[in-house]
Amino acid sequence: MSLLYEGKAKRVFNTEQEGILRIEYKDEVTAGNGAKKDEMIGKGRLNNLITSKIFGILKQKGVSSHFIEQISDTEQLVKSVDIFPLEVVVRNVAAGSICKRLGFEKGHTFKQPLLELFFKKDELNDPLITDDHVALLNIASTEQLSTIKDEALKVNEVLSKVMNEMNLILVDYKIEFGITKDGQILLADEISPDTCRIWDKETKENFDKDVYREDTGSLIDTYETFYKKLEEL
Ligand code: C5P
Repeated sequence: MSLLYEGKAKRVFNTEQEGILRIEYKDEVTAGNGAKKDEMIGKGRLNNLITSKIFGILKQKGVSSHFIEQISDTEQLVKSVDIFPLEVVVRNVAAGSICKRLGFEKGHTFKQPLLELFFKKDELNDPLITDDHVALLNIASTEQLSTIKDEALKVNEVLSKVMNEMNLILVDYKIEFGITKDGQILLADEISPDTCRIWDKETKENFDKDVYREDTGSLIDTYETFYKKLEEL
């Protein structure tokens, strides 16, 4: 079946079934908008398994997503959606770009979850934008944005609890949303250690892509350990 789209970490294919796509997770890992790039054998499998498990948990808790089913170690079937060019970031603890941008100390816990919107546009380096920019750029209607924000915060409630049970802290994450042909807004893309920051509650050890960004350990071993913890739930 024909390739629809190839991104940094995934390939998306058409299927014979109308409205259903096949996603293949790749072994490629990038950081800094592609500035750092490597192949890591086994990463596609881990992110597919982790994303499938997380989308399954979210569904049980009432958060619907594009995910239909995992069909192999590296592939899953999803509902076809048009992705909003928006990266929705939710932060519980300060880390990464917000420390540089606003001077928060890494590890500072926010009183309530902080939601940020970034315009998904590589050429512009995915800038931080406001609700007014979302309207101005016709990215989403006010009503759609409101649904997106509500769902993003629901994801936070569910996943923060899950991580807590695993003795981990959900520091922050990035999610994306899409819209089906009949207008349903769905959580899409992936939720994995590539797109989240996850710390050990006591040691603050990373279980996420920061080990690759900061060269502090083996990405595959880190993701494998996280997957095993998730499986033990
Ligand atoms: O870089 P920053 O601190 O803004 O990232 C916040 C969260 O969003 C992190 O968990 C990071 O992994 C994720 N993110 C992502 N893809 C991007 C930018 C950020 O998954 N393009």
